[in-house]
Amino acid sequence: MDAWAPESWRSKRAAQLIAYPSEADLARALEELAALPPLVTPQEVESLRQQLADAAAGRRFLLQGGDCAERFDECTPEVITNKLKILLQMSLVLVQTSRRPVIRVGRIAGQYAKPRSDALEVRQGVSLPSYRGDVVNRPGFSAAERQPDPRLMLRAYERSALTLNFIRALVRGGFADLHHPENWDLDFARHSPLAGEYHAIARGVAGSLEFMENILGVRAGEMHWVDFFTSHEALLLPYEQAQTRRDADGRWFNLSTHFPWIGMRTAEAGGAHVEYFRGIANPIAIKVGPAMNEAWLLDLLDILDPGRQPGRVTLVHRLGAARIAECLPPLIKAVQRAGRTVLWSCDPMHGNTYATHDGTKTRHFDDILRELEQAFSIHRAGGSWLGGVHFELTGEDVTECLGGARNLTDADLKRAYRSEVDPRLNYEQALELALRMGRILSAQI
Ligand code: PEP
Ligand code: CO
Repeated sequence: MDAWAPESWRSKRAAQLIAYPSEADLARALEELAALPPLVTPQEVESLRQQLADAAAGRRFLLQGGDCAERFDECTPEVITNKLKILLQMSLVLVQTSRRPVIRVGRIAGQYAKPRSDALEVRQGVSLPSYRGDVVNRPGFSAAERQPDPRLMLRAYERSALTLNFIRALVRGGFADLHHPENWDLDFARHSPLAGEYHAIARGVAGSLEFMENILGVRAGEMHWVDFFTSHEALLLPYEQAQTRRDADGRWFNLSTHFPWIGMRTAEAGGAHVEYFRGIANPIAIKVGPAMNEAWLLDLLDILDPGRQPGRVTLVHRLGAARIAECLPPLIKAVQRAGRTVLWSCDPMHGNTYATHDGTKTRHFDDILRELEQAFSIHRAGGSWLGGVHFELTGEDVTECLGGARNLTDADLKRAYRSEVDPRLNYEQALELALRMGRILSAQI
């Protein structure tokens, strides 16, 4: 294979490439970005890789979740805190039911670029470039707003830094302390039909901690506060390249995030994205859709993980409730036959998207749950460990996905549909999913 460099992807075919109107403006923005400090450190990235290796071996569980796309104007203390709260609550349920430490990863502090199936959006006969996330252009439907603007990369970097700074302060300040899960209660959720079941689990964890500390005389140590990691789809390669830095040992890291992933639309083995990912030392995830066959998957593993490094690759399958039973077993077998250990994670969101009669993009809670249930049982039947889950969710009270404990219907979608891209689980639906998943995990362990 040819030598790798942070810019070697430029000689490969890039799907979802952005055509900026001015090369000079683009170069100026990238130069500025490349001079700014990194957002994360190689030590943190390495510590995550080791934890993911544990999860691949069945000793931990990965919870990854957040918005489909973050928005610059949602970089507010409330939105960030609520997202952190729901992820911490879900992780508490998973700690208790999987009987394992949970690795918490947000789709956060950098999830600003979106792949689109259509390059153009047509409204009433007017055709404009599609919205591709706040790091590229703006969602308003005018030519000026849809024009890619390289200065938005600097805004995205700054918003990521502000978000991460706030998360770090909260976590270090004790917000994520397992002794005080009451910090994570969301006001509007007090009357949720699920509140009772969740609080019983929270009391269970508090009781276990008390037992360890008072009866066994051990300090909960690592359990005392929890790590929180960031992830995003590393789609906009000029941006990712500018944040790619060398550590003291000469290894290249993408230091804009701990855990970048390759999206389904950019996972071509000979393509630019795979070339870029090949050379970075971060743990990486690959989205696996129904089109991926065994040969393609094994090719990707050979290119991206030639050294078979534990924790290096997470495979996030997003096959859909209707197709998982047919598509997943051969992929599991192929990985086993190749003698590889990967961390398997299930994204039950992206294979279950459909449009309602008026064209609103949605997902039904029952499809999401059905895909998840099948994922656990297929892995189990195939002698494999499903060690993670990947959700699109928010801590806000939105109405974007159907179903759940309050049985949201088509009519509810009009009330609080805020996503410009994919529909997210709201706070209650996310917690309900964690509780339902908890029952599966308790039964299987
Ligand atoms: C996403 O995670 O938002 C996404 C676009 O996923 P996929 O590449 O699996 O379609
Ligand atoms: Co999405």
